[in-house]
Amino acid sequence: MAIEIKNNRFHIYNNEMSYVIEISEQDDLLNLYYGARIDAEDIRLPKRGRNIVCNADDNNVMYSLSVLPQEYPSSGASDFRSPAYEIETDKGLHTPELKYKSYEIIEGKPPIKGLPAVYTEDDSEAQTIVITTADEIHGIEVKLYYTVFENQNVICRHSEITNISNQYMYLNNAQSVSLDFPAGDYEYIHLEGAWAREKHIDRNAVHKGTQGFESRRGASGHAENPFLMFFDKGSNEDYGNVYGISLVYSGNHKFTLEQEMYENVRIQAGINQFNFRFKLNKGENFITPEAVMVYSQNGFAKMTNTFHKLYRTRLCRGKWRDKTRPILINNWEATYFDFTKEKLLEIADAASKIGIELFVLDDGWFGKRNNDECSLGDWYENKEKLGGTLRELAEEMNKRGLKFGLWFEPEMISPDSDLYRTHPDWAVSIPNVRPHLSRNQLVLDYTRADVREYIIERLTDVLSGANIEYVKWDMNRNMSDVYSLNLPADRQGEFYHRYILGLYEVLEKITSAFPDILFEGCAGGGGRNDPGMLYYMPQNWASDDTDATERLYIQYGGSMVYPASTVGAHVSAVPNHQTGRISLLSMRGTVAMNGAFGYELDLSKLDKSELGEMKKQIEFYKNNRELVMTGDYYRLLNPFTSRHSAWMYVSEDKSRALVYYVVKDTRPENETVYLKLKGLDENAKYIINGETKSGRTLMNYGIVVDKAERDGDNMIFELEKR
Ligand code: GLA
Repeated sequence: MAIEIKNNRFHIYNNEMSYVIEISEQDDLLNLYYGARIDAEDIRLPKRGRNIVCNADDNNVMYSLSVLPQEYPSSGASDFRSPAYEIETDKGLHTPELKYKSYEIIEGKPPIKGLPAVYTEDDSEAQTIVITTADEIHGIEVKLYYTVFENQNVICRHSEITNISNQYMYLNNAQSVSLDFPAGDYEYIHLEGAWAREKHIDRNAVHKGTQGFESRRGASGHAENPFLMFFDKGSNEDYGNVYGISLVYSGNHKFTLEQEMYENVRIQAGINQFNFRFKLNKGENFITPEAVMVYSQNGFAKMTNTFHKLYRTRLCRGKWRDKTRPILINNWEATYFDFTKEKLLEIADAASKIGIELFVLDDGWFGKRNNDECSLGDWYENKEKLGGTLRELAEEMNKRGLKFGLWFEPEMISPDSDLYRTHPDWAVSIPNVRPHLSRNQLVLDYTRADVREYIIERLTDVLSGANIEYVKWDMNRNMSDVYSLNLPADRQGEFYHRYILGLYEVLEKITSAFPDILFEGCAGGGGRNDPGMLYYMPQNWASDDTDATERLYIQYGGSMVYPASTVGAHVSAVPNHQTGRISLLSMRGTVAMNGAFGYELDLSKLDKSELGEMKKQIEFYKNNRELVMTGDYYRLLNPFTSRHSAWMYVSEDKSRALVYYVVKDTRPENETVYLKLKGLDENAKYIINGETKSGRTLMNYGIVVDKAERDGDNMIFELEKR
């Protein structure tokens, strides 16, 4: 790995990948190449004139910014494509033109102040270059950060924009990344969805004009995960140049692909410009969230495994990062708000008998909360409902050999709450305008320090008052009526971002004050399932949809970027509460075991045979969870395009593997599936179901699956190197 500077070029590379930036004679930063490893000195920019463009050099009509690939394009300075940033000075000017100034190389990767980011544990893992550009007339300086990893095809980018003028200015746009690709046939995938239908694969051809996706909801959202895969047309799991861009951010985001008149493609990702306007006084700066770019020369699987390893080991933090996760029972779908201490203990008794390790008490334990109409913000235990204190309940759970966990929704406030009655000004709403409720609740104004202090004080009190070893941090509404009494008129455009900064500050304080607690993020399921949250919480409730068939889609889409260790997945009751579907218990187990595994149903109502089957699932998961958490991941059959779904994990040394297969929707006389495995050692022999087969046979010929005919039929194959 190195960052090499020669002949006005920065070559950012490792053994497999190159990223080349050129400083032009005119001091513009040009984005020369990004892809498989090359020798940087061999390439050059096309020298080709174009009609009706503006030339950016009076002495060279061929030199035009609207044709050249750029690193961090300005607006108005003769490039007519989307700019990477936009400012408005006190004179109303919008046309800066950044020129190269200097660079600095840093060993390792510096943290980003106030924002979550990928990190290194040792400086030898990565190298960072900071390139400074500036427009001295407009008084703006932009530092571009690039970190390249030695052993992984990862480049992390973000920028730092500083007002170096003597006046204030507004920043109206600040992208984390801008990339220009030459004309070609490209496609892209994004993960779209809705509540209970998150992270579905949507694959499209890149076409002329602007396309993309975004969130304006104040959270990364159910509808569009902050993740893009851009690739050569026809790429698949094993073939093609693939670029994954993942934004480490939990708020409004935007991803844009723009194919312009000469068919070049500009890709940008960053904070959404929607209602974004950030005031920078003299000397102040703005730091964009980090964009993590992963390159694979060999299709989607390699990109996936790069993201998985990076996010598992260099984004997630804390004691739980490298620990296998306890199998939990959550009472939400079992009881909803309607529980008593006796009921909870009945479920706990059944849970501990089958080997479950953690009891999670979901919504309804605080204030007067017996439905979703009140009490958010009143984080005081409801002793009457709990038949005692939380401390006593936790002790009861511990006596049964179970850890105890608790649900919170700390960013919300119910109009019917003591908190709202005392502090109506703490809710996000516009003065004298009736706010729009969602699930009967409003959002707390996390831009305010007093709100953040209150929440930290309340959570600290509850978490230190009982033996709580797990927290589910929920967030169940999007932001409307956005206005903060905390901000002057010309800073209201900062609200969305300041909210997220406030949230990150609270998360940092709470998670570091309680380092032993396992935190799981949630937002009505997967409404904020993004890398930003994973920095604070190593797992995320992937969806409120617990239906096993629906989970095949959700977990397949999510697997593109997020490792199984981060995916909360539970077995629930049938008929399923979201879809009414009845699926086999074995299928529900097989699907949910691909993540941080748990159950979410009333175990006390199940018969002996069901509990017996669950006990076996739990034993199997305990024996295999290490591999699920840390193995390389391969998608084998795509549920979006096939009637089956299959995937597998392979240990790093290729000595063990686990293969999962499910019939998603069958038909009579269905075809026989040959399941071609991936990632094995082709020269090794593996024992699979008592038989010995070579890695190369298993990968080239496959496993013949001839006993799967009915919906939900499923199999798990365990492979061990002989
Ligand atoms: C959200 C979560 C659920 C559950 C409920 C409780 O919908 O996603 O898992 O915790 O809130 O109100």
